[in-house]
Amino acid sequence: MQDNLVIEGGQALQGSVRISGAKNAGLVLIAASIMAEGETILDNLPRICDTEVMVEILLEMGVDIHWNEEGSLCIYPPDHEINCTTPYELSKKLRASNLFLGALLGRQGKAIVSMPGGCDIGSRPMDLHIKGARALGANVDIEHGYISAENREPCGSRIYLDFPSVGATENLIMMACKTPGSSIIENAAKEPEIVDLANFLNTMGAKIRGAGTDIIKIEGVSRLQAGRYAIIPDRIEAGTYMIAAAISGGEILVENIIPTHLHPIIAKLQEVGAIVHETDQGIIVKAGPKIMRTDIKTMPYPGFPTDMQSQMLSLLALGNGTSIVVENVFENRFQIVDELNRMGAKIKLEGHAAVVQGTKSLYGARVKATDLRAGAALIIAALAAQGETVIEDAIHIFRGYENVTGKFSKLGAKIR
Ligand code: UD1
Repeated sequence: MQDNLVIEGGQALQGSVRISGAKNAGLVLIAASIMAEGETILDNLPRICDTEVMVEILLEMGVDIHWNEEGSLCIYPPDHEINCTTPYELSKKLRASNLFLGALLGRQGKAIVSMPGGCDIGSRPMDLHIKGARALGANVDIEHGYISAENREPCGSRIYLDFPSVGATENLIMMACKTPGSSIIENAAKEPEIVDLANFLNTMGAKIRGAGTDIIKIEGVSRLQAGRYAIIPDRIEAGTYMIAAAISGGEILVENIIPTHLHPIIAKLQEVGAIVHETDQGIIVKAGPKIMRTDIKTMPYPGFPTDMQSQMLSLLALGNGTSIVVENVFENRFQIVDELNRMGAKIKLEGHAAVVQGTKSLYGARVKATDLRAGAALIIAALAAQGETVIEDAIHIFRGYENVTGKFSKLGAKIR
């Protein structure tokens, strides 16, 4: 796969774009599928590098897995035990490999999970996952870069999360749904991907209530029966195209979305002057006459998503005043700032905040995608920049955006 994306700025994007299935829901559902008996078929799963890595990990574990002609993923775990060690070389490529901790403990009571990799966006500890696993009766050791966990006396429990971590909530849902007795996760994450996981597991026979609130109650069951399930649309991909419409002076219909998942993003787009309409076909975003300044604080859902922060920085770089963007979830999410400044943005960092002094124009430059969402933000900046932008290490973008060049080209962008 080519490592660079080349974008010629200055085209007002027009037309419609169909949003793919949610990466973050898809990844956890792939992991959760190994807990079921029989064949799971996942529809609307995006065919991106991250899902392909999850597929490779499952193949190495000894799970029968393939894409069918309709583009759905079929996962058929064997009746006997599978290899319970996630391979380091593959696991280091994505954070979501940590979700095999919950899935393997739920499936066969034992997991040896390589400490995960993923985007370089800050420290990503596993303490909450481990605390929860121990509370549910697992012995957990960390040695040689692996988390080694084994169920000793599995029993439902009450677990309070110090922070509503998405990954910890998902791992604990998977563990608790196969742990005898009642469990309660307090201060749970409320992201739509958590609700999708709970819905998926409930269709297989799990007993999970309260997903989408901060208290999730789970009654353990002894078995889960596989089935067919369609993954929710990707709210971050949708938000990325919505911002692309606003920055390029264009108008885009964003199709295959769940509008409520997009409310924090819609609110901010309206504050900067974009015109947003919900229709039966999706959401139409039209650029306003100018980009107004605004302030943003990233928060767990339903707050403004950290995964949309970098893209908003690109937009606010062209705002009509000074905006303040505060990052409250991942401390390293501002690596994008140096790259945007190379394109003429005027952004200064003050601890967890970026002070964005709006400028009239950006210009093309050679820049580098430091992580997935930073890469998306560089595409957005490049669409509005004068001249050509070359984004190096675009592989980060392909990790999370399906057919990104095809989709942007169809909207009129000059991208290759
Ligand atoms: C998931 C998403 C990612 C998104 C993030 C926040 C996936 C595959 N990735 O990542 O795209 O940006 O949610 O919405 O779904 N933390 C701890 N201890 C822990 C776990 C987390 O302190 O045991 C902290 C992290 O350092 C971070 C914060 O909690 O500061 C949020 O992390 P978390 O919600 O766990 O993110 P991920 O699940 O890794």
